[in-house]
Amino acid sequence: MNTAQHSAQHSAQHPAQHTAAPVTLITGGATGIGASTTRRLLAAGHRVAVTGRDQARLDRFAAELDQADAVLPVAADTTDFEAVRAAVEATVKHFGRLDHVIANAGFSTHDNLADGDPEQWREMLLVNVLGPALLVKAALPALKENGGRIVLVGSTAGIKNTPGNMYSVSKTALTSLAENTRVLVTGAGVGVTLVAPGRVDTPFWSTHPDQAAPAGPVLTADHIADAIVWALGQPTGVDVNTVVVRPTGQLH
Ligand SMILES: NC(=O)c1ccc[n+]([C@@H]2O[C@H](COP(=O)([O-])OP(=O)(O)OC[C@H]3O[C@@H](n4cnc5c(N)ncnc54)[C@H](OP(=O)(O)O)[C@@H]3O)[C@@H](O)[C@H]2O)c1
Repeated sequence: MNTAQHSAQHSAQHPAQHTAAPVTLITGGATGIGASTTRRLLAAGHRVAVTGRDQARLDRFAAELDQADAVLPVAADTTDFEAVRAAVEATVKHFGRLDHVIANAGFSTHDNLADGDPEQWREMLLVNVLGPALLVKAALPALKENGGRIVLVGSTAGIKNTPGNMYSVSKTALTSLAENTRVLVTGAGVGVTLVAPGRVDTPFWSTHPDQAAPAGPVLTADHIADAIVWALGQPTGVDVNTVVVRPTGQLH
């Protein structure tokens, strides 16, 4: 049992009152997969710092959770290194430690090389690729102190190419970032997990031309949240590196 699990087990009743309870920072944590993961982490006894770009939305989400002492809503654009570094610092200052980070924020332009808007690709590459790299850089000193873990939320689009799709390119880069990071930090006792979801029913699809996922099977955000919390809960010495979760029936 690692320190975080031990703490979680002993703080199940009053998570925020135990200063040794594990602390996890998640980007894009107020909607979709991030919101489900935040709820699951709180239920597992973690204290959670939740980022996004809109402080008011983060505050509303935190208020819904009714666990004010275990949640820190902190606005930070993941593409802005100073903002990300400040969010990490605020988390350590508020909770006294940082055990895990989850690079979850991301979006898709839902287009392709033939018909897409290059300016939106620029933003997508910054959020989906640079953002996770900045989080790793900002959090690494604190994670090394606790033998913590990094989870990167990729996509099956980063494992199988979607034709001409820059989102697929961005998530392929994230797949690479996960292994790049792992070989950098494993000697320091830090774990790295790529969680690659197939289609999930979240606000991610609200910007799709159909405003919904393509017809076919979809997962719920809770399915992915469970995979993330499972990866974080592995015993000391066990580093789960890649978790691919598709709805049954999704081909690619
Ligand atoms: N849904 C799917 O089918 C699916 C499949 C595979 C992978 N994924 C991946 O899963 C992750 C979570 O997506 P989701 O499905 O849960 O969609 P979502 O509900 O739209 O969540 C995306 C989150 O990212 C945040 N975000 C976007 N840009 C940001 C920025 N620059 N700085 C900080 N936060 C930012 C958003 O918050 P604000 O807008 O408030 O900033 C939002 O909370 C993404 O990486 C996505 O690529 C999703």
